[in-house]
Amino acid sequence: MSNVKFMSGENIPLEMHKVRMVQKVNLLPVEERLRAIKDAGFNTFLLQNRDVFMDMLTDSGVNAMSQNQYAAMMRADDSYAGSETYYRLESVLQDIFGMKYFLPAHQGRACENIIARVLVKPGQVAIMNYHFTTTKAHITLNGGTVEEILTDEGFKISSDVPFKGDIDIEKLKESIARNGKENIAFVRIEAGTNLIGGQPVSMKNMREVSKICRAEGLKLVFDASLLGDNLYFIKVRDEAYKYVDIKQITREIAALMDVVYFSARKLGSARGGGILVSDEELFLKMRELVPLYEGFLTYGGMSVREMEALAVGLQETMDFDVINQTPIIVEALCNELIKNGVPVVTPPGGLGCHVDAMQFCSHIKQTQYPAGALAASIFIASGVRCMERGTMSEQRNEDGSERIAEMELARIAVPRRVFTLSQVKYTADRINWLYKNRDLIGGLEFVEEPNMLRFFFGRLAPIGNWPEVLAKKFRADFGDSL
Ligand code: F0G
Repeated sequence: MSNVKFMSGENIPLEMHKVRMVQKVNLLPVEERLRAIKDAGFNTFLLQNRDVFMDMLTDSGVNAMSQNQYAAMMRADDSYAGSETYYRLESVLQDIFGMKYFLPAHQGRACENIIARVLVKPGQVAIMNYHFTTTKAHITLNGGTVEEILTDEGFKISSDVPFKGDIDIEKLKESIARNGKENIAFVRIEAGTNLIGGQPVSMKNMREVSKICRAEGLKLVFDASLLGDNLYFIKVRDEAYKYVDIKQITREIAALMDVVYFSARKLGSARGGGILVSDEELFLKMRELVPLYEGFLTYGGMSVREMEALAVGLQETMDFDVINQTPIIVEALCNELIKNGVPVVTPPGGLGCHVDAMQFCSHIKQTQYPAGALAASIFIASGVRCMERGTMSEQRNEDGSERIAEMELARIAVPRRVFTLSQVKYTADRINWLYKNRDLIGGLEFVEEPNMLRFFFGRLAPIGNWPEVLAKKFRADFGDSL
């Protein structure tokens, strides 16, 4: 679609699908939105969907499925063992990734549990471009630690570097030398890289990292949850791959890795997960854990209907007009905000638009969770539910002190093929209003703080009465508008 030009010269994202089933959504008045976010302890995870206008919390398990995915669900073969559905999914995965063995799991973090249990020994370190919350939790649960070796550019909010998710090769070499091979559980590449703004990893970088890992005898693990977006960026940002088939790029990536795993709530727009390996010994070690934690080997905790939808969804991921939809909408949303001076992560990545709360709310200390406060404020201003990705999403240090996040982002996720351009423009309009009124936003503090993954269930309170003041200003500026 990127080659559809408008006579006006405007760069307008064009949807390459039509909507044939809809879900009604409600936009509550601002006073009701204020009530809802209070009830949710100022944590957008705890909002009830009936109070949400646009659910942009995540792209996980909420992507629109195609008619062919729904059709495939009807032929699912329900059986505890030996399901035809499993063999269909296995052969699609083998075909796309060119790897021999497939293990099913109920979602991405379940794959991480299995991988960490098999590969991480207490005291070992897992080296990666950047962590994801559940990945880190599973590694630490198994007695390991995480070391991040992202290029410095990846931490910069504003940049024109096309592949900000790349591993810094010098940092990788230094880390291997410092830690010693025997103390390294594995090296991990996450592509796209979630917590730094859905930023992609280049083919060149993956090749270099793989070469070093092979030379050192280190296992290379690839998190392919956001691979759809990453494939799009390789095609449009790397001249060498402009005319290369998406499946060929996928195979080229997989050939560099020892383990590939994914959340099928993202990749393939269904629900579930899976691990791919080529090495038989590793496969056998991981296989033992599947019936223990997931379910029998031919479903692994997934519903067979989802597995059928996944098999089709994965094949559709090989279609450029399918995978380009999220990145072009993310870019459109980012551009609408940039026009009004709102600080966002650039270049726009996959997954969603990432607003920099450190600049947006520069008056709020990181220990008062500026990104969390911004996410709550965006909901008050718009009814759009987004997610905090900053200090609140970190785990406290062992001594109880805050681990201050490198980046403090409010992530406005763009589920695949769900929202229309007018809805995206509405979102930008309300965030632009909020930016003009950013001085009204205040900090948050925990009133209930779980030990593990606190951002999911934690409840917070505002410091002062800023949410009321913000809602009143909205009413004054927008009159009787919702
Ligand atoms: N890896 C990455 C890169 C992810 O983005 C996620 C999930 C996982 C692993 C875990 O997969 O949810 O199926 O267990 N990310 C979601 C998000 C939760 O909202 O970004 P899961």
